[in-house]
Amino acid sequence: MYDDLSWVNHAWSDIVKKVKKTSDEMTVKFPSMTTDGHYCDTHAPWAWVVGFWPGLLWLLYEKEQYEPFKALAVDREILMDQPLEEYINIHHDVGFMWQLTSIKHYELFGNEKSKTRALTAASHLASRFNISGNFITAWNKNDVSSADPRGLSIIDSMMNLPLLYWAAEQLNAPRFTLIAKAHADTVLKEFIRPDGSVRHMVEFDYLDGNVKDYHGGQGYSEESAWSRGASWAIHGFALSYKFTKDQRYLEAAMKTADFFLSCLPEDHVPHWDFRAPLDESTPRDTSAAACAASGMLLISELVDDPAISSKYMRSASDILLSLHQRYTTLGQPEEQGILLGGAFNVPKGLGVNCSLIYGDYYYVEAIAKLVDRVNEKAKLNDF
Ligand code: GLY
Repeated sequence: MYDDLSWVNHAWSDIVKKVKKTSDEMTVKFPSMTTDGHYCDTHAPWAWVVGFWPGLLWLLYEKEQYEPFKALAVDREILMDQPLEEYINIHHDVGFMWQLTSIKHYELFGNEKSKTRALTAASHLASRFNISGNFITAWNKNDVSSADPRGLSIIDSMMNLPLLYWAAEQLNAPRFTLIAKAHADTVLKEFIRPDGSVRHMVEFDYLDGNVKDYHGGQGYSEESAWSRGASWAIHGFALSYKFTKDQRYLEAAMKTADFFLSCLPEDHVPHWDFRAPLDESTPRDTSAAACAASGMLLISELVDDPAISSKYMRSASDILLSLHQRYTTLGQPEEQGILLGGAFNVPKGLGVNCSLIYGDYYYVEAIAKLVDRVNEKAKLNDF
């Protein structure tokens, strides 16, 4: 697969065609998951998913310069001012929310208001740091487990840390990096098991900082291996390595990636939890596949050793080709999502076997990275 990436440009044009249609038709502001092929609205501008649709539009805009994508992305970014100004519903997922929207807008057009939004979000994230336990507090309330939210941290947090690294660079303020690294070190110690599997939730005593309990959260149980959690770890540690060059984060990214790869079924797309009972009906999670693949492409770009780089490039390509061939909505114009087979919360029976906006986002992000590789390769061959 690695030697033949000819499918990548087809995958990209399928995506562009699909999103031109859905962006034109779709009336919801912040799509989250599909029901009967249609994206539902979160109706909560503070929800963790709201950045993915505008983020996906920016990814496409960057390559296609199709103005309606930009206009829609900017419109949604402005709507996200409401939770930022209200403050009270803000949680640790401000990284997902403002990295993909305001930072992207600022990087592409130098929009100062976008920069201020992202810096404000970074300050909120830094303020969630618990100094006794060296962790970033996930939420203000907790609907997922019995844990006290004041002492709760979750693996998804690794994807939010780049907001802090970015703020440190923008403001020449290392305190943001120190917080991000202190949190990443706690995740290394308390969330990553020796075999490379990953916990979803760790509950700390919010006063003395000691670990109190583990919770299964969106996974099968507290000792299981939720596949999207694994993908957050793979991708999140690779991002922490990109910004800090701390070798331990690269090792964690590779260790969690190796566990993930060792658990994949024949078609390279994970079941929702690697330790859930397995039969024909066990749901897959294509969002985990897409996020992990994009993270592996980042590892492959960052490592020095060409053999290791090829290994992760090949693994990511295998996953993405399978998604392209077996799980995309190509030829199904009634489906608004790009990837089928996502699983949001299996224990609660929510959003199972549907499209998830973050699955679509990471699939587009990963295919965009492959498009760049194909073009680089073409340039080299031209030489
Ligand atoms: N961040 C919540 C999830 O992965 O579903």
